[in-house]
Amino acid sequence: MVYLNHAAISPMSFRVREAVAKYLERRALKGIEPYPWAQKMALETKQLLGQLLHCPAEDIAFVLNTSEGLNVLANGIDWKPGDRILLNRLEFPSNLYPFLNLQRHGVIIDFVEPVDWKITPEMIEAKLTPDTRVLSISFVQFLTGQRADLKAIGDLCLKHKLLFAVDVIQGIPHSHINMQEAKIDFLSSGSHKWLIAPEGTGFIAVSEHARSLIHQSTLGWTSVTDPFTFDNLDPERLRPDSGRYENGTLNFAGISGLKAALQFAFEFGIEEMQKQTLDLTEYFIDRLQSRGVHVLTPTPRSERAGIVTFEMENATEIHERLTKQSIIISNRAGKLRAAPHFYNTEDEMRRLFVALFD
Ligand SMILES: Cc1ncc(COP(=O)(O)O)c(C=O)c1O
Repeated sequence: MVYLNHAAISPMSFRVREAVAKYLERRALKGIEPYPWAQKMALETKQLLGQLLHCPAEDIAFVLNTSEGLNVLANGIDWKPGDRILLNRLEFPSNLYPFLNLQRHGVIIDFVEPVDWKITPEMIEAKLTPDTRVLSISFVQFLTGQRADLKAIGDLCLKHKLLFAVDVIQGIPHSHINMQEAKIDFLSSGSHKWLIAPEGTGFIAVSEHARSLIHQSTLGWTSVTDPFTFDNLDPERLRPDSGRYENGTLNFAGISGLKAALQFAFEFGIEEMQKQTLDLTEYFIDRLQSRGVHVLTPTPRSERAGIVTFEMENATEIHERLTKQSIIISNRAGKLRAAPHFYNTEDEMRRLFVALFD
C-alpha cells in the first residue's frame, strides 16, 4: 500500500500499538493497581505536548477530540448579544459548529472569504470589528493545505485584544509551532492524524490568561483541587491548571499511545519531520505543475505542510481507481488531496503521480 492519507487518519506505528497493548494488559491483570502509574504517564504526556507546542504542561488538558476542545472554548465564554467571532469560510466544520451554535445567544459570526483559496493576516484584519472577541482558525487548512502565519495573526489578535484560538490537528507534530511566541490563547487537536496516535485522545492547551476567561461549561469531580474530599463539595475550588476542563477519569489507554507517538516524534526529530514532509510535497507539486495540473495548495515552503490538494477532471473516478491500486489519498469536495508523512518516499510520490494519468 502507498499510504498518503495522513490528513484523514494515520496508520499507528507498532510502538504506539505496543504501548496501548501494554497498558490494556496491566489493566486486565491488575485492575486498579496501574492507576497511579497511569496518572504519572498522563502528566509526562502533557510535558511532551508542552515541549512540542512550547507551552507549560499545566496549560494542557485531555479531551475527546478537536471538536470537544473547541466547545470548551465556545461554551465557556460569557457572551453578550452582539459579540462577534471571526472564522475562515473554508474551515473544517469542527472549527465552525461550536461557534455557529452560539448564534442562539445573539453572537454574530463573521467570515473571512478566501481569495484564490488563500487567506492572509491582512484579510483577517480587514474583517475585525470593535465587537470581535475571538478569532479561530486552523494552523493548516484541511482542504487547501495552507499553513497560517500564526505569529503575524497572533500579533493582530494581541493588537485588537482578541482571544486567539487555533485548531492544530493538521499541523503537528511535523510543522514547527510555538504557542507562546505566536501568542495563542487556546489550541485544540486530536491525535489520530499526523501524530499517529489513537482516536479519542484529543487535547487542548489553554493559556493562563484564557483560563481566566473560559469558565467551566461542564464541571466534574477532577475539575477541583482535592477531588477525593467528598464531605465539602465546593464548585469554586477549581484546579489552577487546565486539567479543570477534563472533568473525570482519562482515556489512559489512548494517552499511552499518544505518549509513545510523541517520544518517537522527538527521537526522529521535529525539524527532520518538517523537512521530509516539505521535500515530498515540493517534489509532488513540481511534478503536478509540470503537467499543467491546478494545485490549490500554496507553493512556498513556509505556507504549506503535509497536504497537497489539486484539481483533476473525473476526480471521483481517479480516486476510486487509485484505491483499487492501494494508493490511498482523499477526495474532498471533488478535489484530490495527497498527504504524505515523514516516512513516505519520493518513489511513492512518483507512483502516485504516474497512477493519476494511467
Ligand atoms: C482542520 C481539522 N480539524 C479537526 C478535524 C477533526 O476533528 P475531530 O478531532 O473533532 O474529529 C479535522 C479532520 O477530520 C480537520 O481537518
